[in-house]
Amino acid sequence: MASLSSAPFESGMTSAAPHEFLTPSAKSRAGDDPIFALNAEASRRAKAGERILNATLGALTDDAGLLVTLPAVCEALRRVDERRAAAYAPIAGEASFLSGVIADVFSGTGAESKAIGVATPGGTGALNLAAVSFLDPGMSLLSSHFYWGPYETIAAHTGRKLATFPTFDERGRFHVQAFSEALQRVLARQGRALVFLNTPCHNPTGYSLDATELEQTAAVLREKSALGPIILLLDTAYASFGPKSGAAWNRTLVELSDSVQVLVAWSGSKAFAQYGARIGALVALAPQEQRRRELQGALSFACRGTWSNCNHAGMLAVAEILANPSLKARVDAERERAIRLLNERVQAFNEQAQAKGLKYPRYEGGFFVTVFTPDAERTSKSMQAEGVFVVPLKGAVRIALCSTPASEVPRLVAALESGVRLAELSAPQAS
Ligand SMILES: Cc1ncc(COP(=O)(O)O)c(C=O)c1O
Repeated sequence: MASLSSAPFESGMTSAAPHEFLTPSAKSRAGDDPIFALNAEASRRAKAGERILNATLGALTDDAGLLVTLPAVCEALRRVDERRAAAYAPIAGEASFLSGVIADVFSGTGAESKAIGVATPGGTGALNLAAVSFLDPGMSLLSSHFYWGPYETIAAHTGRKLATFPTFDERGRFHVQAFSEALQRVLARQGRALVFLNTPCHNPTGYSLDATELEQTAAVLREKSALGPIILLLDTAYASFGPKSGAAWNRTLVELSDSVQVLVAWSGSKAFAQYGARIGALVALAPQEQRRRELQGALSFACRGTWSNCNHAGMLAVAEILANPSLKARVDAERERAIRLLNERVQAFNEQAQAKGLKYPRYEGGFFVTVFTPDAERTSKSMQAEGVFVVPLKGAVRIALCSTPASEVPRLVAALESGVRLAELSAPQAS
């Protein structure tokens, strides 16, 4: 019988591989997300016995550092029939899940019947589907210059690019004018535009557009839609943590949908405190039935070609919650407690950071806030020396209040104050 040779493996071959197997662009990619790397360093020092304040990771933890979960959601997951959970989900997602999500997004607007949706692995999957379905390779998606890092990863991985505009104007408000100019440039260059806007509770800045900013942004989108197709994706990952007086973004989206392709990236990660279950959806609004059919086809095709289908158990559990009013009320009440916990931290931060003169955007709720600094690396390194971990960005550091107990806010603010002062002292003075 012929035997297969395994000589190269048996001989412990150590010489260089005969070929370059990864493509040149894949070969140069760093696999470790910088935030996860910082978190690992913080955990290593904590394990070694240091008193570490780790404000890097975006998950809501209680004051003892344990992940906050919603018991009614965990029970719903455990109740899912095991054979249904084990079976493949439909490619576009469970119909009951999708209708629940659409109602969750557009309830009260009367637009539910004008929307279609497909299930995605978290909001991240929805962002990916939008990039591949609404931009050709080589084109740029547009977002503010403070953005969630994976926007760029998704763009690069799918052969697209990311263009940005300054996030804030000189008054510290959303820079509608810069957005308008950038949108015009993108449309002139590539004939279409896909815009990612993350509000309320923008990651990383914590900023929530108010009603005026939302209206002004919508007016820009409407005006520029005369120049070419515009697709607006609202990333609502943190929507349930937004200010109670927040802008009614879903009504604005419905009004916009006659001139712009409106998309919503919906995520169950934060809203249901199920980060690992990868529950999400991309919802698309289209007044015409023909367009809805085309969208359904294009997005389902992209699902099939990317992940095939999503976590069935997660979809079934969320579908049950969204369809059952008393269960939904229980989940809402549990979530409300989590929001209160976070809001205590937000309030403590606002009081103490303002007293120390730290510069940061309007912060009314949400997992993160950024504090401006002329040298984020220096600020974050100096904070690390004091055992406080935050994430350096360009021109700011990101702080995860979601994982910082209110009792630790004084320590956080003190470390920020000295870290920013150090950066200011060493920054080149403007002449
Ligand atoms: C701005 C933003 N968008 C989308 C997501 C998507 O999260 P997931 O894929 O877990 O739903 C996150 C998660 O951190 C986020 O911060």
